[in-house]
Amino acid sequence: MEFPVVTGDVTDQAVDAVVVNLFSGVKDPGGATGAVDRALGGLISKLIEAGEIKGKSGEITVLHTLDNSYTGFRPDRVIVAGLGKREEFDLDEVRAVSAGVARRLRALGVRNAATVTHGAGIGGMDPAACAEALAEGSVLGLYKFDKYKTGSEEQDDGDSEIESLAIIEIDRERIHALQSGVATAGALAAAATLARDLVNEPPNQMSPTRLAEVARSVADETGGLECEVLDRPEIERLGMGAFLGVAQGSHEPPKLIRLDYVGDPDDPDNNLWFVGKGITFDSGGLSLKPSSGMEQMKSDMAGGAAAIAALQAVARLKPKINVTALCLGTENMPGGGAQRVSDIVTSMSGKTIEVLNTDAEGRLTLADALEYAKQHGARRIVDIATLTGGIVVALGRGNSGAFSNDDTLVEAVIAAGKARGEPVWRLPLDKVSKKQNRSKIADIKNTGGRPAQAATGAHFIAEFAGDTPWVHLDIAGTAMIDSTTGWKVGGATGVPARTLVQLALDLARDR
Ligand code: BES
Ligand code: MN
Ligand code: ZN
Repeated sequence: MEFPVVTGDVTDQAVDAVVVNLFSGVKDPGGATGAVDRALGGLISKLIEAGEIKGKSGEITVLHTLDNSYTGFRPDRVIVAGLGKREEFDLDEVRAVSAGVARRLRALGVRNAATVTHGAGIGGMDPAACAEALAEGSVLGLYKFDKYKTGSEEQDDGDSEIESLAIIEIDRERIHALQSGVATAGALAAAATLARDLVNEPPNQMSPTRLAEVARSVADETGGLECEVLDRPEIERLGMGAFLGVAQGSHEPPKLIRLDYVGDPDDPDNNLWFVGKGITFDSGGLSLKPSSGMEQMKSDMAGGAAAIAALQAVARLKPKINVTALCLGTENMPGGGAQRVSDIVTSMSGKTIEVLNTDAEGRLTLADALEYAKQHGARRIVDIATLTGGIVVALGRGNSGAFSNDDTLVEAVIAAGKARGEPVWRLPLDKVSKKQNRSKIADIKNTGGRPAQAATGAHFIAEFAGDTPWVHLDIAGTAMIDSTTGWKVGGATGVPARTLVQLALDLARDR
């Protein structure tokens, strides 16, 4: 789908549909909406008067103007998109509105449309940022995962693809800024799409081996990325006893997957590591999960997917910073060779871990991943993990949870999440819950019981982060959703791939 930036009059676009907007409570539309209203003889204001158009968030009205039914008005349809309350309006609302509009255009069979930049003009927001959010929201909102539908007529939803959504900008001087916003949006939305695809794939397809192949093809296709994959013998040589303990219950071979982007070759310390949890299926191991809900555990590599996907966008946007993605891929299965409850494993760091619940496997793999990152010179680490059901209880599906040993870094992560509409909420690493990880016979145990479950998971990882500035993002509540809302389509959300990209851009800029 293309987003050309064009100049000209909204009423004079040779398109299947033109999109304008309305804040709630506005009786007398101005700007482009006013111009369309006048060209249609006041039709929009009459419908506002009649109460049919309210301007509520999510409201979409289709007006048919086919075959020049209004003289001097060229588009075949007008879409009036509700923007909701002006005081609640922000860039994420632009994404949400654009996603809803794009889905409606697709359902209408529209191939070529033109739109005003929601939020610019009367909204008073930066037009380039609005164009970026518009393109981002449209692509994200149109996402589908239908590759396993074999295409029988009954299954076909009849949707056609939108070819072009032109963004109308009156001011010629601004065209370039809008175009560059659209390009950034393209890189970000592609990254989120990749992350979604990886998570939505069924776990028999998206094995650790396949995940490694995808990382390699991302590097090959994007350029500017180095990919390294380590197999079991090399992982053994590194001494990753915690990671290997998780992997030993599965027939799928584990993979250490690493992608490197070098954006600041003169300063190797100017680096940022994304360490993503990469459990391609989490059965719980011998501490087997109940069967109801287990199907969600194909998403247990969503952190790794976000990390890999983020590197794709970073390589395209080329910030002046070195960024590495690391994903330790394995299944967590209860095979005959599976680790037992009460096993003690020795992590790469040398610390011993008592495994009292094989379903607390994410922290075991992350322990070795963080040690690897530190030994390879990581200066800032963000780990991303579908780590605990506890975070879903604490925060629900609206926010990812953050834990950190570094105020500056976590604030940067929160700001990046806010900018991309992927909210992040910080929770405390308190002394009280830390004690719950104490083991009687090893250095630490891998489960701290029910209270503050997300925090004890974070405390465990903190032990391996040591003094390196580190943020842990628990995305168990945000990686997948049931039903479509705004720019999120039911299934994998792609969260927080765009936040990670934004963080890399922000940290590069801030130097
Ligand atoms: N992958 C799960 C966490 C999860 C829960 C992800 C819901 C997505 C949605 C993780 O490995 C896990 O099993 N955590 C346990 C931790 C416990 C054993 C300390 C949990 O949440 O119960
Ligand atoms: Mn688990
Ligand atoms: Zn898990």
